This record gives sequence, structure tokens and C-alpha cells, in this order.
Amino acid sequence: MIPSRRLLSAAVCAAALALAGGAALAAVNAKAVIETREANFKSMGKAMKAMNDGLKADTPDMAAIAANAATIRGFAPKISTWFPKGTGPEAGVKTEAKAEIWTDPAGFAAAASRLEPEITKLEALARAGDVAGARAQIRMVGGTCKGCHDKFKQD
Ligand code: HEC
Repeated sequence: MIPSRRLLSAAVCAAALALAGGAALAAVNAKAVIETREANFKSMGKAMKAMNDGLKADTPDMAAIAANAATIRGFAPKISTWFPKGTGPEAGVKTEAKAEIWTDPAGFAAAASRLEPEITKLEALARAGDVAGARAQIRMVGGTCKGCHDKFKQD
């Protein structure tokens, strides 16, 4: 049986609508993904600042340092999953993510993998109450943040 013109155009219409719906959905998801990762990075920034400030004290509150380090350690292994394709500058949503994240995925994965071992060390030093060790180690942690930002984040 040959489908009528009307049926056919209805089918084409439905397909077009489904496509448009898919694109809209992808745009909404990109926005949500970007906002979520930015919120996560903000939490990391806050934890980092609290540790930097805290370690300047004569007698730092090492339990607080350890708790903030644990916050960052929890995020660290997930960072590379926060950048699905379509959530870069082309998403049309405000983001500081550079296109290099997707053109150099190996470089980005390597930069992401450097944070976890350094923050794990800092947390252990803080739990051990090693103030001098923690003061030295937080510079290593900061270096891994900066190392990624320099290459993959817009200033
Ligand atoms: C593997 C790469 C990578 C590592 C490691 C990394 N960042 Fe970032 N960071 C980014 C990218 C990319 C953005 C931009 C995200 C966006 O705007 O969509 C960002 C954004 C941020 C922001 C701005 C969030 C906002 O939108 O206001 C802060 C703050 C931040 N990072 C802190 C940190 C700290 C602190 C560390 C280390 C403890 C760290 N980051 C480690 C890649 C990284």
C-alpha cells in the first residue's frame, strides 16, 4: 500500500519535530552539565582557599584542613567525566572550558589525573598533624590546578 501524501508529510513532520526536540534537549543538558561542573569547581576553589588561609595560622586547625582536602579528593577522580562532547564553547552557554579539552583529550586526562595523588597526600599529612608537610604539599596541589587551568581554562 502506498501511503498518502498527507500521511507521508505527517511522518516527515514528526521526524523533524523529534530532531528539534532532541537538539533542544541536548542544549538544556549542556547548560545543566556546565552549571554543575562550575558549581563543583567553585566548591573546590572554596576548599582550596580555606586550606591556604588555614595553613597560614600559627596553629592551623588540621582537622579542618583534612576535611577540605577530603572534599577536593572526592571530586578529583570525577573531573574528566564533567566534559562530555557538546559542553565546550560551542554550547552557547557561558563557560571557561577551552576547545583544547576536546582536541587534546589525552593531555586533558593526564592533567586531570595529577590532582588525586597530590590531594590524597595532603589529606594524609593533615590527618597526621604535619603542619610543615601540609604547607609544602598544598603547593603541589595548587600546581596541579594551575597546570590544568593554564592549558584548558579561559582566564
Ligand atoms: C583537569 C583540569 C582541571 C583541574 C585539575 C582543575 N581544574 Fe579548575 N577548572 C577547569 C576548567 C576547564 C574550568 C572551567 C569550567 C567551565 O567554566 O565550564 C575550571 C574552573 C574552575 C573554577 C571556576 C569555577 C566558576 O565557574 O566560577 C575554579 C574556582 C576552579 N576551577 C578551581 C580549581 C581548583 C582549586 C583546582 C585544584 C584543586 C582545580 N580547579 C583543578 C579545569 C581544571
